[in-house]
Amino acid sequence: HSTTAHAETLLNWYDKHHRSLPWRVSPQDRNRGERPDPYRIWLSEIMLQQTTVQAVKPYFADFLKRWPTISELAAASEEDVLKAWAGLGYYSRARNLKKCADTIMRDHGGRFPQTTEALKNLPGIGDYTAAAIAAIAFDSHAAVVDGNIERVISRLNAIDTPLPAAKTEIKAIVHDMTPEERPGDFAQALMDLGARLCTPKRPACALCPFNSDCEALASSDPELYPVKPAK
Ligand code: ADE
Repeated sequence: HSTTAHAETLLNWYDKHHRSLPWRVSPQDRNRGERPDPYRIWLSEIMLQQTTVQAVKPYFADFLKRWPTISELAAASEEDVLKAWAGLGYYSRARNLKKCADTIMRDHGGRFPQTTEALKNLPGIGDYTAAAIAAIAFDSHAAVVDGNIERVISRLNAIDTPLPAAKTEIKAIVHDMTPEERPGDFAQALMDLGARLCTPKRPACALCPFNSDCEALASSDPELYPVKPAK
């Protein structure tokens, strides 16, 4: 199967089976003209860096209620932001969140830059987060690779190189697979597939849209992928 066919297969699955998440614009709402709010996408991606979706949800709701826009967050004190963050952990994220809001107000006229390169210059935004914001908020053709996506791609292609050495290859595959249209939905679809079906243990291959293409499923046991580094 070509990578274009893979993207189409996955987007069709996502249209039916995507998770409904508070920061997400569903494909159906998008078709009605709704667009993602870069502020919400950024806030959710920072919170999700080291924290599960379930744990993030109440904090995300709380932050949005208190500071509905980036200018309101920039106007808050660091102390109040840290207090609201309490319980989420990794507090450097909260300090960088506030610094990033200040930088965007001061240097970018209150608007998020749209390219991965410009996003990476902002406090708290590394390679992964820059790509996620560029793809999800701005529909840029950016290769988004997190732990879930590494697992999906390693299995689909039966990648025998162990992590972390396999990351370069995985990133190149994701780059080639990412469609020109709907790159943000494509990235979120890979995340949802990894979270819901292509799980670390006992993946639900019977339900997977890639079950006739998956090299790990065809040749061995998907649980053997991604290959862990030798100890
Ligand atoms: N984990 C990190 N970013 C995510 C997103 N946008 N949707 C679901 N899970 C995520």
